[in-house]
Amino acid sequence: MTVAVSLINMKGGVGKTTLAFNLAWFSAWKANLRVLAIDLDPQANLSQYFMGAQRYLEHLNADKGTVLEIFEQFSMPNQKNGAPTLLDPTKIVHRLHEWNDGSLIDLIPSRLELAWTLKNPTEKSSLLPPFLAKISENYDLILIDCAPTESILTAAAYKSSRFVVVPVKPEFLATIGLSPTCTLTRRVQAHASRARHRYGGHSLQ
Ligand SMILES: Nc1ncnc2c1ncn2[C@@H]1O[C@H](COP(=O)(O)OP(=O)(O)O)[C@@H](O)[C@H]1O
Ligand SMILES: [Mg+2]
Repeated sequence: MTVAVSLINMKGGVGKTTLAFNLAWFSAWKANLRVLAIDLDPQANLSQYFMGAQRYLEHLNADKGTVLEIFEQFSMPNQKNGAPTLLDPTKIVHRLHEWNDGSLIDLIPSRLELAWTLKNPTEKSSLLPPFLAKISENYDLILIDCAPTESILTAAAYKSSRFVVVPVKPEFLATIGLSPTCTLTRRVQAHASRARHRYGGHSLQ
């Protein structure tokens, strides 16, 4: 069974991205899991951690896929007939490393233009769960790194996760961020169990 975990806190700088990066590597390399890391922050720090600044830039310049295409799949009509292009998961998911025992680490990178998605949110937060449902059998663990602002991106993360990890630094502002994060998580949990709009049939924990 695939376990999806989101790393969320309304406060930035508490270690969400660093923890996502290290958890992903540890889970694949030492725990022999098949891991998918998803960068849901337009700042794209997780993508830069994994790929390095140079390779990440080359990736963008070559117009290779990012998480943006999942959220904008119906608003990017192709040039030929104006219809949306069918999303190909192999163009969005990038293999970073694989081991002989079958464990691996894949990444769905982010890019700054993901911030556009926030300007025209509509029902876009519902697009991530069905995309992940298509590929989740390829993974044991999915880690989703979020931006420190409540938006359709965090809503998408909540809808796609079974667990939420809230990293907190032992400092004044970081502990203040904990309370609204917990309140929001409880609200989403109540909403999700009513609406059953998650894939996999698990409730958020
Ligand atoms: N366990 C840690 N110990 C010390 N510094 C850390 C630790 N985790 C993260 N950092 C540092 O804290 C800063 C913010 O971390 P980051 O992972 O980018 O936070 P967030 O994703 O929550 O904004 C970075 O400079 C990072 O190197
Ligand atoms: Mg971060």
